[in-house]
Amino acid sequence: MQRLHPAPAAFVDDDELRAAYLMPDSSSWRDGRWVRANFVMSLDGAIIGPDGVSEHLGTEADRRVFSLARELSDVVLVGAGTLRAEDYRASRRPLAIVTRTMDLAPELRVFADRGPEHVRPMVMTTDRALRAAPEWLREEAVLVPCGADEVDLVRVLDHLTSLGLPKILCEGGPALLTDLLTADLIDEVLLTIAPRLVGGDAHLVYLPGGMHPPLRFSTAQVLEHDGTVLSRLLRS
Ligand SMILES: NC(=O)c1ccc[n+]([C@@H]2O[C@H](COP(=O)([O-])OP(=O)(O)OC[C@H]3O[C@@H](n4cnc5c(N)ncnc54)[C@H](OP(=O)(O)O)[C@@H]3O)[C@@H](O)[C@H]2O)c1
Repeated sequence: MQRLHPAPAAFVDDDELRAAYLMPDSSSWRDGRWVRANFVMSLDGAIIGPDGVSEHLGTEADRRVFSLARELSDVVLVGAGTLRAEDYRASRRPLAIVTRTMDLAPELRVFADRGPEHVRPMVMTTDRALRAAPEWLREEAVLVPCGADEVDLVRVLDHLTSLGLPKILCEGGPALLTDLLTADLIDEVLLTIAPRLVGGDAHLVYLPGGMHPPLRFSTAQVLEHDGTVLSRLLRS
């Protein structure tokens, strides 16, 4: 791994890599938390490969930073679409799933494979969906009401912060990222560009009408490994 920006260095070792991805200290947080999003995309801006998931876009460098970003966060925040597509594993790390419909199947690994060592995932949803929650889901997850008919993302983030989980890592997907960006709730984006060209029409954000004015970010860091470019972008 080499650093291209801010201070070029031909070799970044594991300790330096970890230091390079630490979230800023709480003096620069907004509303008592830091919300980081982590995405990988192809050269042509696609966020999924031909198999419909992001795994095959990922390179060794991306996987390293993906794991590191998890390790450095308190909680992973994910849209239900990504959870379903990527079939997230049960984990020891707190996971918060955002869903309007609560269309979640008991066969998903996050529920089906959960052992005593795993944390019960949180499901951040609407009052309306909660009223129809199936019994199995009430047992397998912690159901959190976050709005009457729509999920209020500020309530989601406030809830995680109030649980003592202020370092929030959003792993997508694009629908959730779009809503968080539109509400200006993202503090930082880790964006990996993999040297692949895959086509397709799944992109990072869904905003056919564009964003006016555009959200601005500053480039805090750029690393490179084997053609993969990993940038760290801060909301400015
Ligand atoms: N390249 C990458 O880094 C990357 C990262 C993540 C995902 N992906 C890919 O992205 C694809 C999924 O895309 P997607 O846009 O469907 O992902 P998504 O944002 O994870 O899922 C959309 C679903 O999440 C819930 N959701 C999202 N925002 C919400 C909000 N503001 N309020 C309430 N519910 C909300 C809804 O769930 P309900 O339908 O249950 O109501 C919605 O249908 C997958 O193929 C995945 O592999 C790629």
